Amino acid sequence: MPIEGIDTERCNLCNECIEECPLGNFHNSIEEQQIIFDNSQGCILCGHCIAVCPENAIIYRNMNGETLDFEVSSKSVSYEAIQNLMRIKRSIRQYEYKKVTAEIIEKVVDCMKYAAVAMNKRTLKCLIISDDRKIKELIEKIIEAVEPEEEREIYKKKREEGIDPFFHNAPHIFIFHSDNNWDTKNASICITYAMLCAQTLGLGSCWIGGVQVFLNENKEIQKELFDINDKIVGIMILGYPKVKYYKIPPRPPLETQII
Ligand SMILES: Cc1cc2nc3c(=O)[nH]c(=O)nc-3n(C[C@H](O)[C@H](O)[C@H](O)COP(=O)(O)O)c2cc1C
Repeated sequence: MPIEGIDTERCNLCNECIEECPLGNFHNSIEEQQIIFDNSQGCILCGHCIAVCPENAIIYRNMNGETLDFEVSSKSVSYEAIQNLMRIKRSIRQYEYKKVTAEIIEKVVDCMKYAAVAMNKRTLKCLIISDDRKIKELIEKIIEAVEPEEEREIYKKKREEGIDPFFHNAPHIFIFHSDNNWDTKNASICITYAMLCAQTLGLGSCWIGGVQVFLNENKEIQKELFDINDKIVGIMILGYPKVKYYKIPPRPPLETQII
């Protein structure tokens, strides 16, 4: 039981945990003049009780991950800064031949864990392929499975010309997989976080939906190469961009209706 209760010595009865808990697991006991924690209806381990408690009074154990102080206000990133980041982030399809260090990849991975997740079930898994031989093997296996033959021949020809028709010669491939259906949605948020974070680190990224669909339809490839039986819920490539943009391409306005 990760959330175990309230340290009544520390609790200042501010009621923030009562207001915040999505499952209503905290309530006021008038007789005892204290807040009671009761998770008999379940707990999604969102940790918001820990986050809102000004007195550090929530007792918990075995919650994977550290708590970090909210020392900077949530306004620390201006609208203009984040709007600019979102505008300049492109889907990169040309990469330098240069591996990203494990430390920098770790930074990207760290940001992913802060993405919102349905019911806070952290079931999404990520396989990062950085080994060139494995990437090559994956490309060859995909081509072997392409139907019809004429299309397969087109891909083979591209390979002979040194073209990577699927992953754009990116040095790293992130394969997100899960047996939880919600992760088909969760992965989008997680990958968006990764992509925006990558942009701040001078890295480029792109979602590779075509291969994602293909691998889900040809499960034997993922099983044989990576021993993955789960559904692939997202594929992202990562690396240093070998392209410079001068303009943000035009984007039509999002169709909006206000009632
Ligand atoms: C779900 C999804 C799947 C995508 N699949 C591919 C893909 O298989 N190959 C590719 O080159 N780009 C892929 N993209 C990138 C889009 O085509 C890209 O967003 C579009 O070209 C617009 O460019 P921008 O992201 O730079 O604005 C995908 C993007 C998303 C969100």
